[in-house]
Amino acid sequence: MTSIPEYMTAKHRECDDVFSEAEAAVAQENWSLALDKWQCFAQELTKHFEQEEGKLFPEFEQATGMTSGPTQVMRMEHQQMRALVQDLDNALAAKNKDEYLGLSETLMVMMQQHNMKEEMMLYPMMDQHLSDGEQIIEQFKAD
Ligand SMILES: [Fe+2]
Ligand SMILES: [Fe+2]
Repeated sequence: MTSIPEYMTAKHRECDDVFSEAEAAVAQENWSLALDKWQCFAQELTKHFEQEEGKLFPEFEQATGMTSGPTQVMRMEHQQMRALVQDLDNALAAKNKDEYLGLSETLMVMMQQHNMKEEMMLYPMMDQHLSDGEQIIEQFKAD
């Protein structure tokens, strides 16, 4: 069985890795590889956000009664990252290397800060408050 912090943190790392591969491919102007990696990243990130917003955040809010605390901040940051992902998608479609690399840097910083807050604070709190955390993760694995 896998805990919430263990599984979700591993997913952050996986997203980071594919994100770096996409960035490296753009830097080398290997556009087909870049598109491949980028689409893989965007898909994984979208799924991760949906698992948080659709399942983990509501469960946490219900268990703790904290509806306007950390989960609200995380949702807002997801929206900011979604907007950046859209901009990056456009930059890649236009094969605009400089634009892509600039936006990529911004998203990376935002993602690091966001993930750190989840890993240091939110996921451990979920682990503490959600008694069915391991069952939730089993569902995520099947997604
Ligand atoms: Fe998140
Ligand atoms: Fe996350």
